[in-house]
Parts: sequence; structure tokens; C-alpha cells
Amino acid sequence: MALPQWVFPFGLLIFLTVGCSGRPFYPLPSKAGHENKQPLQTFRPYNIAHRGSNGEIPEETAAAYMRAIEEGADFIESDILSSKDGVLICFHDVTLDDTTDVAKHKHFANRKRTYEVQGVNVTGFFTVDFTLKELKSLRVNQRYPFRDQQYNGKFSIITFEEFIDIALDASRVVGIYPEIKNPVLINQHVKWPGGQKFEDKFVETLKKYGYQGSYLSKHWMKQPVFIQSFAPTSLVYISNLTDLPKILLIDDVTVPTQDTNQSFWEITSDPYLDFIKNYVVGIGPWKDTVVPVINNYLQEPTDLVARAHAHNLQVHPYTYRNENQFLHLNFHEDPYVEFNYWLNHIGVDGLFTDFTGSLHNFQEWTSMEDNNKKGASNLLHEIALMISKYNSNV
Ligand SMILES: *[C@@H]1O[C@H](CO)[C@@H](O)[C@H](O)[C@H]1NC(C)=O
Ligand SMILES: *[C@@H]1O[C@H](CO)[C@@H](O)[C@H](O)[C@H]1NC(C)=O
Ligand SMILES: *[C@@H]1O[C@H](CO)[C@@H](O)[C@H](O)[C@H]1NC(C)=O
Repeated sequence: MALPQWVFPFGLLIFLTVGCSGRPFYPLPSKAGHENKQPLQTFRPYNIAHRGSNGEIPEETAAAYMRAIEEGADFIESDILSSKDGVLICFHDVTLDDTTDVAKHKHFANRKRTYEVQGVNVTGFFTVDFTLKELKSLRVNQRYPFRDQQYNGKFSIITFEEFIDIALDASRVVGIYPEIKNPVLINQHVKWPGGQKFEDKFVETLKKYGYQGSYLSKHWMKQPVFIQSFAPTSLVYISNLTDLPKILLIDDVTVPTQDTNQSFWEITSDPYLDFIKNYVVGIGPWKDTVVPVINNYLQEPTDLVARAHAHNLQVHPYTYRNENQFLHLNFHEDPYVEFNYWLNHIGVDGLFTDFTGSLHNFQEWTSMEDNNKKGASNLLHEIALMISKYNSNV
């Protein structure tokens, strides 16, 4: 099934670059109606666009998210942090150093700080020391040197609300997958009026835009969302505020939880899965903990996926990347072999990928919905039937 050819929204990009007042780019409430939108697909594992299509365009920018939507993302994924003045923003690192041009802004040179982040002293320009207006004066760069650099300096940081607007204004139903990122650090450094916490602001923002309902409920299907966090206490706390589905992220085996200081082994144990399933619909583990890797080769898969499924928990591992730098040698430099392994052999329920277009193509070619008469597999089937008739006639 052919996707429309992606036309680069050049006029819009200029608008995004220039219009940086902190005001949403799209009018509120979302101008697009829900009624005639193509619904979220639920018959195959979810394509989760990790930080947008950041394999192509600098991460967590409007352009990266719009690209992901055009490439077929089921969900666009974002890390939510805060500015100094309490505005929630889409940004991955707690510091601006690696993915913005902050170093070029000499008037910010005195903002460099050292804070303890998850037990480690980190030095840099922290988002929590910049107002939204100041953050909007920066430009985002591509994280990896081996990816396309031509969009460096073109796009600004966007707010959580602007991110939501992009999803709601898509011409089909596109879910969002925002993370309550570094809640311990954010709550230490940012104070909101009335004693509200980061988690309160996060849920309040989702409610403001109409996100509500449990997994697969009628409301949820109109505005799908998974709330993700590495911090179990944040997920337990917000379960009192919303029944929206939540995902517990699980870090590498060496990293304890940032809030409860629990080990990987503890939070992946059966008793813990019994506990956390009261609060979350799934887990998001680092893929190399599900299938361990030695010398860049996959080892025997663990039983984590089977045990999570036995607890009625979905599994959405991260992060799938096309480049050889990230592909284990078993996949002989072919990202489709990796997708096939995880979707059809390990059997997970969603993948976080930097290359949504590649995962979408793979799924379109291998898992068409049965009733999709125009689908590629049906077409191939019809051709095969025609040929077999011809062959039997001669
Ligand atoms: C971080 O730096 C401060 C000040 O130098 C020091 O007291 C503290 O022990 C350091 N923390 C870690 C985790 O290294
Ligand atoms: C949730 O609300 C109940 C009832 O108000 C309260 O007892 C409980 O402590 C709350 N849980 C959390 C994690 O805030
Ligand atoms: C976290 O747990 C580890 C292992 O149990 C312990 O050594 C460490 O002191 C704990 N850290 C904190 C900050 O409590």
C-alpha cells in the first residue's frame, strides 16, 4: 500500500523557525474533527516513533514528529521536561549541551551548573535554568554525527502542548507516548503554584486537551495515549489522577530506579509484576535486557516477555535503529531482520524506533489486515492465483 509521497512542508518549516513566541502553533481546541479520521490500527504491534523520526530530522522537533506521522507512526513519542518557569517541554537530555546550539549563545555562558542526577554529578546547561523564552531562542541539532546534519539550527524546542497539537491535527488518529522524564530532578528544581508537582502539571496538560479513558475505551481510541516513566512512584501517584494507560520503563540491568532505588532484578521479578500490573498496562524494557548481547551477538532470550504477558502486561522494548552502529551482528546489517526477529520470534507488542518509516514499510509488507482488499499481500495473492490458472491451462 503506497503512502503518499512525502512533500517537505517548506513553508511550514520557515513558520516553525520564525514563530517562536511560546504560543502554540495551532489554534486551540484542535481544528480537526475526530469523526472521519482513520482510526488507530490495533491489529498488529504498535509503531512508536521514538523522539519523532529522529533518524532523519533532529529529535523531538515539530518537523521530526510531522515526518513520523507521514511515515505511518501509530504513536509519536516524547520526553517531557520543564523550563525554569514551569512550562513543560519536549526534550530528552536534562542538559542542552549535546543537541542544541546553546554553546554559541555567549550570553548564556554563566548558566553552566553541576547537579546530581541519579547519583552522578552532571555539569552543563540544564533546561531547568532557562525560561521558555530563552529555550525558544536556541536551535536543535542532530545528536549523532553519522546522521543527516542539514537540518541543524533550523528548528526550535517545542512545548508539550505544541506536541499534543501536532498529534491532534493529524489527518488520521495518531497517539502520543509522552514520558514523565527525570521527575526527581524536575521536582527538586522547579516549583509550581499551589504546591503542584511535575506529575500534576503533566496530567493536567493531558486533561486540558481531552485525553481520558482506560486502554482501548471509546475516549482512548479517539485520542490514544500511553504515559511512560522510569519512576514507579510517579506512575503510582498519577494513577490517582487518571485512568489513562501507563507503561513502566525499565533501564539497563546496572541502573537502579531513580526514585525508589530498586534494582533491575527486583522490578522484573514476578512479585513486582504482580504489584505494578495494578498501575500499568505494560513495560518498556531496554531490548538488550530482554535478549542479552555478548560481543555484539544475541544470546538466549530471557523469559521477561513471557512473564510480562502472563501478568497481562504488554511489552514495548526500545530502541530500534537502522544503522550498523546499533544493529547486532546476527541481523547482518538489515534492520528488517531485526524487526522480524522481535515481532515474529520474540513477540512484543510495540517497538520504539528512530526510523518509523522503515518499521511501517516492514509491517505493511508482512502484516496486512485481512479485510484490506487493496493491500499488497492481497494483490500478490491475486497475482499468484492468476498465474496458477494460466499454468494449469497450458
Ligand atoms: C557531587 O559534587 C559535590 C560537590 O563537589 C559532592 O559533595 C558530592 O559528593 C558529589 N556527588 C557525587 C555523587 O559524586
Ligand atoms: C491515592 O488516593 C488515596 C485516597 O485519597 C490515598 O489514600 C492514597 O495515598 C493516594 N495514593 C497516592 C500514591 O497518592
Ligand atoms: C541504593 O541501593 C544500593 C544497593 O542496595 C545501596 O548500596 C545504595 O546505598 C542505595 N542508594 C541510596 C541513595 O539509597
